[in-house]
Amino acid sequence: MSDRHIATAPGAAPAGQFPVSPNNPCPFLRALVANGYVGGHVVPLSQLSEMIGLASGETGSAQKEVRRKAWMVAVIANGLGPLRVFKSATSGAVLDELRNGPLDKHGGGSRILDADAKVHGDQIDRLASFGKDCKDPAGGIEIGLTAKEIEAFMADNIKRDGDAARWYFPILMKGEWPVLLKILGKGEGEARYLSVAEVRTLFVERRLPERITARLPKPAAGR
Ligand code: HEM
Repeated sequence: MSDRHIATAPGAAPAGQFPVSPNNPCPFLRALVANGYVGGHVVPLSQLSEMIGLASGETGSAQKEVRRKAWMVAVIANGLGPLRVFKSATSGAVLDELRNGPLDKHGGGSRILDADAKVHGDQIDRLASFGKDCKDPAGGIEIGLTAKEIEAFMADNIKRDGDAARWYFPILMKGEWPVLLKILGKGEGEARYLSVAEVRTLFVERRLPERITARLPKPAAGR
């Protein structure tokens, strides 16, 4: 497999975006930071979980549940020690210090983003190789991954990681690609799929589709 890097230098921000630290390895949070929906450093958990709840498109008690789950993940994202968890709960998660934290699988995931936050195009192609032609409800056909194919992709990521994979990685992974499918997916039921084109835009351009940003409050202006 060729090792194509598509990315701009880490920290460099395209016009209109805020720079994002390479120590924030989450593609979803990187897009929120780059586009001014949340700050790039300490973000109160109430604000972070509110953004995730709104992005989910859920309402009422279903949105509350999304927010609660996001809060639970974010409160341990910078460390598991009682003092650190207390600090996260009271002042917020430190988004530019997520690297090497409890949620970092050190290459056990897709490997689309490396430790310097460079995007590896060949790893996006690998993700696409797990997908199939999917019917876009807005018209046309595109390559996407349904829940079943995402399962296969994640299982292969664990396999590739070999002895480095820890027993809890599959648990962490449930909060990543399947949640992205839930939020970004197109279509309903078993046919719901994650568009590879939109995943590429998310990683490379740090942008969410307009149908998702329409659910969010107006962001801070970029540079
Ligand atoms: C609660 C706040 C969140 C925190 C603290 C967080 C943190 C992280 C971290 C540390 C990683 C890197 C894991 C690794 O490379 O091993 C990651 C990856 C990821 N996250 Fe998040 N995340 C959060 C919310 C979300 C949400 C809401 C979504 C989906 C909409 C999401 C989707 C992903 C995806 C798809 C990956 C990539 C995994 C891979 O490359 O295989 N995250 N996240």
